[in-house]
Amino acid sequence: MNMKLIIKCFNALLLLLFLLPLGQQAMAFAGAKPAGLRCEHLVRPLGIDVPNPRLSWLLSDDRLGALQTAYRVTVGRDSSALLSKKGLIWDSGKVLSSTTLLTYKGKDLEAFTKYYWLVEIWDKEGKAATAVSSFETGMMTIANWKGAWISDGTDIKAKPAPYFRKVFSTAKKIKSARAYIACGGLYELYLNGEKVGNHRLDPMFTRFDRRVLYVSYDVTAQLQNGKNAVGVLLGNGWYNHQSTAVWDFHKAPWRNRPTFCLDIRLTYEDGTVETVSTDRDWKTSLSPIVFNSIYTAEHYDARLEQKGWNTVDFDDSKWKTAGLRTSPAGVLSAQVMHPVRNVEKIPAVSVNKVNDTAYVFDLGRNISGVSQIRVKGEAGTVVRLKHAERLYKNGRADMSNIDQHYRPTDDTDPFQVDIVTLNGGAEQSFMPLFNYKGFQYVEVTSSKPIQLTKESLTGYFMHSDVPVAGLIKSSNPTLDKLWFAANNSYLSNLFGYPTDCPTREKNGWTGDAQIAVETGLMGFDGITIYEKWLTDHRDEQQPNGVLPSIIPTDGWGYDWGNGPDWTSTIAVIPWNIYLYYGDDKILRSNYPNMKRYVDHITDISPSGLTTWGLGDWVPVSDKPPVEFTSSVYYYADAVILSKTAKLLNKTEDYQKYAALAAKIRTAFNTKFLNTSTGIYRSGMQTELCMPLYWGLVPDAMKAKVAANLAKKVEASNNHLDVGLLGTKAILGALSENGYADLAYKVAAQETYPSWGWWIVNGATTLYENWRIDAKNDISLNHIMFGEVGAWLYKGLGGIKADEQNPGFKNVILQPNFVAGLDHFEARHDGPHGAIVSSWTKSGNGVVYEVAVPANSTATVYFPLQGAQKVYRDGKVLTAKTEIGAGKYKFEIR
Ligand code: BGC
Repeated sequence: MNMKLIIKCFNALLLLLFLLPLGQQAMAFAGAKPAGLRCEHLVRPLGIDVPNPRLSWLLSDDRLGALQTAYRVTVGRDSSALLSKKGLIWDSGKVLSSTTLLTYKGKDLEAFTKYYWLVEIWDKEGKAATAVSSFETGMMTIANWKGAWISDGTDIKAKPAPYFRKVFSTAKKIKSARAYIACGGLYELYLNGEKVGNHRLDPMFTRFDRRVLYVSYDVTAQLQNGKNAVGVLLGNGWYNHQSTAVWDFHKAPWRNRPTFCLDIRLTYEDGTVETVSTDRDWKTSLSPIVFNSIYTAEHYDARLEQKGWNTVDFDDSKWKTAGLRTSPAGVLSAQVMHPVRNVEKIPAVSVNKVNDTAYVFDLGRNISGVSQIRVKGEAGTVVRLKHAERLYKNGRADMSNIDQHYRPTDDTDPFQVDIVTLNGGAEQSFMPLFNYKGFQYVEVTSSKPIQLTKESLTGYFMHSDVPVAGLIKSSNPTLDKLWFAANNSYLSNLFGYPTDCPTREKNGWTGDAQIAVETGLMGFDGITIYEKWLTDHRDEQQPNGVLPSIIPTDGWGYDWGNGPDWTSTIAVIPWNIYLYYGDDKILRSNYPNMKRYVDHITDISPSGLTTWGLGDWVPVSDKPPVEFTSSVYYYADAVILSKTAKLLNKTEDYQKYAALAAKIRTAFNTKFLNTSTGIYRSGMQTELCMPLYWGLVPDAMKAKVAANLAKKVEASNNHLDVGLLGTKAILGALSENGYADLAYKVAAQETYPSWGWWIVNGATTLYENWRIDAKNDISLNHIMFGEVGAWLYKGLGGIKADEQNPGFKNVILQPNFVAGLDHFEARHDGPHGAIVSSWTKSGNGVVYEVAVPANSTATVYFPLQGAQKVYRDGKVLTAKTEIGAGKYKFEIR
């Protein structure tokens, strides 16, 4: 046997050994191998619904210039078929390509089926390696549901959360079991007394009367042979919003008593299938959750507990029969995304005992999520947990910055206050199931004395549990803290849709999200959340193209705050997903919607300029007219639309929207640009940075406009004077146009007005207002000024997506070794792996180290000053150098 054959056999054996017990992981052998296998951007997803799922992987190969020269993907129902290449349902054949993202194009996928897929790659020397993964389909079509929608038949005003239960017997030995649950409201699912899965606040918020999400679980291990009990507890969520606030969710057209539909699909060892479903056999009763509101809080009366309610032997003879209901929506879609979880456990750092009926806990940082209290006391003792972002001088919880848009009709539903009534038994633990809040402090008061210690209360940071994809480290601690705060605010505002704040609103404000999208994508693998949210956009779009300012919405926001400065999400977010992931699906799915949206702006803005919008929100002082800022976004949308049309080979559209973009640009510059001074309108910071950042400035004028911007910033002693729209543009406009040192000074500024001003005053999240003593608009956990997080990667690390080779297939590395900073390091995990850009000043020079992932390349722009040269291994390189995959060390001196 020659060596090659031996290796082949060995590999095949390893693969076989590996497939039998595990079925699905990258195979370990020296050299290049495929890794990070994903389907629909998730690892081994369960319950997908798309007929043509996307399959992706990356090349693990740390050699210089590592490259995939070919691939072959095969898909089959059993893992051994992949090896023998028999019974395949898809075989891509060997394709000479470095692509690592494909769309499945095989036979029709069947529902409820686990498919294995094998990717074989060939490295730069033509050596092959394989890895296997799997995905499983869910319902695929609504016709596959067997269950009926049920509820407890009470009124929308009824406050207690309902329990549901059913006992069923399994007929034979179970091979595998899946639970599929769709819900209007929120659910907790239990089997034999145990919670199924670790998701929180499922299903994610959608426009409930148009689309409801269902969630799939593997419940094989939770079932037993013979009798089993299934229990479901339903919460209101956004479906039955009982609290009253400015945005009228209590008047939502979909509002109803929570309801659900469940199928538990049992596959027996003999291959037969049985489905246990929701039907008239289910029993229902009220739970000890006597009130629950996603917006305010949860109330729990431990005296009403029914021990063992979700187990087989529980006596449910006093429970009533559940009733049948209509489905909330005609569309039931699989929830294929990273779920919300209790991601981080945060112990209290201190407790201040005011007296034995009042304690104030401090978590040491601001989070979104819940607190869990362990407490013992006399039966009937009422314990109130008030969650606040700040304290009054006397040390008590101050709600005044977060409760001002709440419109309570009585005092039974206080804002962010959980209310627990004790039953006098052993120590009790309480954590709300159907609510989350934004807070750092918890003031606990009780109707009778209780004894609490620091350990009695724990915080849980909750958010969509998106994998971390970025890292920043520098020699400036304020900058590092700013990055941490930006991440915290980004995550605090990610609950299956991006929100503005976890406190006052929890609204899917479009403007905040389009500003923050790059901070999100640099730091976290968020594609699944954005794809879902863009589906919400399509569900909400009016036939005339108009989108509401908050998404999802009950109808609020179609006539306020929804101009292009906010709702350009429909173009800006898909475009960024394309740049960061190299995946054009989101562009394809939203293309008609982007078109209708831009066409609508054109209809109401024949001059090429538009006055539709809110303008530069919460500015320091200067605010340009809305026509100025909104027209910039109108232009940005037309540009994105024309580029997308080109990409999708829609030549006529491309020409049409490129011409539209040119028309807007001309109208804008004619009206606002003084070509002799290089000043836009009155020369405010926002007026100078937005046209630069979004590409409206004529090439010949760029240097002059940038110099004017720099002068304007220097005149305010290196402080920013912008609002939300200006923050997106100011740092990039400076650093991209020769003023990186100044951009850094602004980003690292520690006196008012600046991001650093918050940080030196103790912020662990980003604020809504530059003034920390503002009376309004002063939530302490807003992401809308969050672009600075992304700028650290782009402006200092120089990690940028290359539009010509998206998904970091080619990485642009354009670092700025700014004055005043000795060391800076940025890492972003893109679709091909970790990109690292790290620089350290040394003497008069700089050591610059980079990592370019396998199967990608980089274009490096060294910022050389004066007579400086760049060296690698003693050899001089050009200021612009193309490199392949691998780790490099450069010296600039
Ligand atoms: C929200 C913002 C939002 C704005 C729109 C505020 O109440 O919190 O973040 O973008 O309204 O005007």
